[in-house]
Amino acid sequence: MLYLTDEEFNFIVKLMKDSYGVNLSQKRPLIEGRLGNFVTEHGYKTYMDYFKYLQTQPEELVNIVSKLTTNHTYFMRENEHFQFYQDTVLPWIDHTLKSTDLRVWSAACSSGQEPYTIALITQNYLGSKASSWDSTILASDISMKVLSQAKQGIYDATDIEKMPPEWVSKWFKKVDDNHYQVVDALKAKVAYRYFNLLDDFNFKKPFQAIFCRNVMIYFDLPTKEAIVNKCYNAMLPGGYFFIGHSESLSGCNHKFTYVCPSVYRKE
Ligand SMILES: C[S@@+](CC[C@H](N)C(=O)[O-])C[C@H]1O[C@@H](n2cnc3c(N)ncnc32)[C@H](O)[C@@H]1O
Repeated sequence: MLYLTDEEFNFIVKLMKDSYGVNLSQKRPLIEGRLGNFVTEHGYKTYMDYFKYLQTQPEELVNIVSKLTTNHTYFMRENEHFQFYQDTVLPWIDHTLKSTDLRVWSAACSSGQEPYTIALITQNYLGSKASSWDSTILASDISMKVLSQAKQGIYDATDIEKMPPEWVSKWFKKVDDNHYQVVDALKAKVAYRYFNLLDDFNFKKPFQAIFCRNVMIYFDLPTKEAIVNKCYNAMLPGGYFFIGHSESLSGCNHKFTYVCPSVYRKE
């Protein structure tokens, strides 16, 4: 095992914090576990030799953040949100806004389970009206690895077993005994992009809903507050903001109105 010196540890913690907002200050064993072999296998004698190189290679930095963050996600995670989206958000867009231009963002989408679920619920809701809507969901992440998995849309059979069988038969095709793939018609309803939540938000049109779930756990309070406020400013009045059930906006200075656990609204 290659151990980090204090200088190396402080260096990578600062680099990840400054580049992505990700706080690894309590994650020394995780960094050593996930980067140690990688660094030696790539011919670097010390972490610092590698980190110095990393600093000058933005593309490589993106690969490293994939190794150091947790992308764990699954279908139907915190299903109350999807139920709320179906029962409240979509009818609001449809009947109150009378819009046929869906503006929904999965802002840390990992390997695609969250945006595909949103897209699937949207398509089920729209039914025969779907062709007259622009109903593509925006989905983004900083990890190129998960974005490529999401675009492929291949999942273990165990991943989708909690989904209603009629959803599986309509929106997935069997690849082999252990894998299913999202059908092309649903893939076409999610646009995957690289996007770092630390960057400026320059979206052309405001969002009606933003799912920013289970990502703010990585951020310290000032970073979280800045992202929450950027989301607020990027939303339409009346828009809904979803965070993870284990996350909280308490202590954070923001203008959202609380709706129900981990759901907020821009009034
Ligand atoms: C645990 S997953 C959450 C997936 C999904 N939203 C969910 O709730 O299941 C967290 C994701 O946040 C991404 N992430 C971490 N820092 C980010 C940043 N600065 N900008 C965008 N995404 C980030 C990670 O790459 C990871 O895929």
